[in-house]
Amino acid sequence: MKQPKICVAGSSNMDLVTSVKRMPLPAETIHGIDFHTFFGGKGANQAIMAAKLGGRVTMIAKVGNDGFGQQYLENYQKSGLVTDYVSVTDDAPTGIAAITVDAQGQNSIIVVSGANFAITPADIEKAIPAVREADAVLCQLEIPLDATIRFLEIAKDANVLTIFNSAPAQELPEKIYALSDYFCPNETEAALMAGFPVKTIEDAEKAGRLFIGRGAKSVIVTMGGLGSIFVSANKVFHVPAEKVKAVDTTGAGDAYIGSIAYFLASGASIETAMENATHVAALSVQKSGAQTSFPSYADCGFSV
Ligand code: RIB
Repeated sequence: MKQPKICVAGSSNMDLVTSVKRMPLPAETIHGIDFHTFFGGKGANQAIMAAKLGGRVTMIAKVGNDGFGQQYLENYQKSGLVTDYVSVTDDAPTGIAAITVDAQGQNSIIVVSGANFAITPADIEKAIPAVREADAVLCQLEIPLDATIRFLEIAKDANVLTIFNSAPAQELPEKIYALSDYFCPNETEAALMAGFPVKTIEDAEKAGRLFIGRGAKSVIVTMGGLGSIFVSANKVFHVPAEKVKAVDTTGAGDAYIGSIAYFLASGASIETAMENATHVAALSVQKSGAQTSFPSYADCGFSV
């Protein structure tokens, strides 16, 4: 099989992760159990997931001129990403995420964007050759919206498959829907953008139809333990989640979306892509951290 080419424009964060028995209440001080630093950021996580499955992944990113930035550049190189469009800025520190994980594996995350928010549409335009030669492009909302939109526009103009993971949630301009071949929110992001709660599979289908009406070609709503729902003009289906014991859910959504990008870029059907991505995400929640928890293709036990 030809190695699929994926281009990702997105964030690089150093994740500062504290494990706790339970989340602290407002104004409460509690003792943590342990502390680790991991490589994270939704963009980087999804890119590295696609690369671990076997994709040739080009990353467009920015880090600060500091220790975390240096470590991140080495991480990209070790992970086999094409780093021609990863740059270093003196104007902002490398992005970080302060993450707390409780005994149930649930997390809360505060992102301080730093250098990620120094990415400009001009940075994206430098990477036009990589976008045009990709089988699929993938982006999120942890870099400035104008850069994300420029990235999707360049890909659309070149007829490259676009996958837009609208995370973390924010209000979006209408034009971004029509730039998305696959518009991929989770349930909370879908609720914010739809303007109604998305708690059930039926709610997700209703939200998906709304996003199709706004111009998205197809929609995947991820719903954690409820699985994921696909909606397009003429197809709707649900893929249940695998039942596993979660140690740390950080990055599970990124494992899922990075896998979707890899399998669609490989030419798989959306049904196969979503079933395989569900399995990858289930494996990822059974280990700590984001990228550290991602399986390789061989680890997944796929039949082909
Ligand atoms: O989706 C998980 C990621 O969100 C973490 O790695 C953190 O960096 C934040 O971007």
